[in-house]
Amino acid sequence: MFEINALSDAVGAEIVGLDLAQPLDDDTFGRVHQAHLDHQVLVFRDQEITPEQHIAFSRRFGDLSGHVYEQFLLSGHPEILKVSNKKTPEGDFVGLNSAGRRWHSDLSYAEIPSLGSLLYALEIPPSGGDTLFNNMYSAYETLPQMTKDRIAGLKAEFLIGSARKYYTENERPALTSEQLASVPSVEHPVVRTHPESGRKALYVNSAHTVRILGIDNAEAEDLLTELTEHSVKPEFVYRHKWQLHDLVFWDNRCCMHIAEPPPEGANRHMHRTTVVGDRPY
Ligand code: OGA
Ligand code: MN
Repeated sequence: MFEINALSDAVGAEIVGLDLAQPLDDDTFGRVHQAHLDHQVLVFRDQEITPEQHIAFSRRFGDLSGHVYEQFLLSGHPEILKVSNKKTPEGDFVGLNSAGRRWHSDLSYAEIPSLGSLLYALEIPPSGGDTLFNNMYSAYETLPQMTKDRIAGLKAEFLIGSARKYYTENERPALTSEQLASVPSVEHPVVRTHPESGRKALYVNSAHTVRILGIDNAEAEDLLTELTEHSVKPEFVYRHKWQLHDLVFWDNRCCMHIAEPPPEGANRHMHRTTVVGDRPY
């Protein structure tokens, strides 16, 4: 039996006393699944897991996706994306360094975005390099009724952030033309219904959402800013301070996250699996 301790009023719970190196029986898995729906972000402490065990646990939630940055997939385990600021002797990053420097939901730029991501801390800096998570149900629910009415049924255009010069070449290598062609922009609803909880969540973000469609451009710009600023108010946010061997599993359908850069010279090295979700509606 494991414990579930809420980590903040906003979102997130810590799971203590569960060993993810062991396969979970259906009953235990069911309780983990329900805890994930209830708390949106789960933190599993003190996990000693191999890439195979990380993948096996992730697969219980669905199929796993690769990543457009295929050069950062773990060799022999293409289900794992390396998120790292470490460098090879040649001076290249060994993983995606600037993953998540703006608030976003993983793969919201894809036609079929992600259900959730599982990030496992293999090396952490002595301080800093926190990841912040927000609650997109609360963000939606606390909007003024006028805004809810205004955005009901609206769609937005989404495009991978690296296509749009947010990052310097050093932080994030430019996508090749083949990579870019594999992630054309897509349309998703501004408000989505979570397929398992049935609850409504705001879905636009400041990394991948290009514009809100169907209304005047200037108005669309202001509305996007208003929504993205509202959704990251402190009362909707949990700050995760990493401990070594934490595995954090967040729900990309009802949360956004942002990574703070680690201090200069400190290593931060993570492995991420990404569970495939469904088409937002
Ligand atoms: C990610 C991401 C967050 C982090 O892996 O999806 O945004 O803390 N990274 O590195
Ligand atoms: Mn991310």
